[in-house]
Amino acid sequence: MIEELKNLETEAERELAALADPQLLQELKVKYLGRKGLFATVTAEIAHLTSDQKRAAGQEMNRVKRALEELFAAKEKGLGSSDFSIQAIDTTMPGTYPAAGALHPLTRVIGETAAIFQRLGFFTEDGDEVEDERHNFSALNIPLDPPARDSFDTFYLASVPGQPPRLLRSQTSTVQIRAMERIGEPPIKIIAPGKVYRPDATDATHSFMFHQIEGLMVDEGVSFAHLKGVLYAWAREFFGPKAKLRFRPHFFPFTEPSAEIDVWWEGRGWLEILGAGMVHPNVLRAVKIDPEKYTGFAFGMGVERLAMLKYGVEDIRHFFENDVRFLGQFRG
Ligand code: DAH
Repeated sequence: MIEELKNLETEAERELAALADPQLLQELKVKYLGRKGLFATVTAEIAHLTSDQKRAAGQEMNRVKRALEELFAAKEKGLGSSDFSIQAIDTTMPGTYPAAGALHPLTRVIGETAAIFQRLGFFTEDGDEVEDERHNFSALNIPLDPPARDSFDTFYLASVPGQPPRLLRSQTSTVQIRAMERIGEPPIKIIAPGKVYRPDATDATHSFMFHQIEGLMVDEGVSFAHLKGVLYAWAREFFGPKAKLRFRPHFFPFTEPSAEIDVWWEGRGWLEILGAGMVHPNVLRAVKIDPEKYTGFAFGMGVERLAMLKYGVEDIRHFFENDVRFLGQFRG
């Protein structure tokens, strides 16, 4: 019997070591220590022993009983704590999520506008922010002398001896020239979103850096009616189907005739949103496109202004301060 008790103890130790489920622990406990369990079965034999044998067997019986109880108690404690960690990953509980990002409102305006023009057959063109005077001024029919350039005041980079002056583009109209130089022969239908720079003092409506979206279409027989059609198609998608446009005569050196364009917004009145016009023949000549054969229209819109109107933002500086309380409102 003593031998059997010892075997029982080693067997229990082995089974307990392999066990991880608290439910099974209870079953195992019944198997060993229950009223009809292995311990009870083995020790029942004590009735058939001599009184000398009984003493030795009795001692071993008590020792193994205590040992088993201790083993089970220790295992219960051990599994108890892992029982807790099982609850901690209860998959029915709402999880903790990493904070999700959102598109910047300016990125949204650019993306929505690019998507609308893409459906109208315009390619999105990229252009450099560091430019030369030809692409920012002269090829756009802006003379290099001071009065003509006053309204296009510009940051210049430190001059390098023997190199032509370089500047930060003050308008995305540079990409009109770049695209026509690259593509060469019309048809040309592009839009060009990007950053522009002007030495303006920063306030609620001015920033030394802001974004524009340029548009250009050059082909045979392009007229002002095409310009109106394209801008209406965009405005009705961007502002809503009731959007109305108003074309006011204006002056830009690179277009003739030129217009400033306002959008009618129910409850808010006329809001100026962009400049546009028919590409000036001198601009076409500058990129060796024959103005007798081809005509075109161009437009340029301010992205911050569009975003301020669309989302009701009252200060341009909000776009550049990276405050998540502001940016988080543009989710979804
Ligand atoms: N480049 C002009 C500006 O920055 C905006 C503009 C007006 C662009 C008329 C055009 C245009 O392409 O036709 O003020």
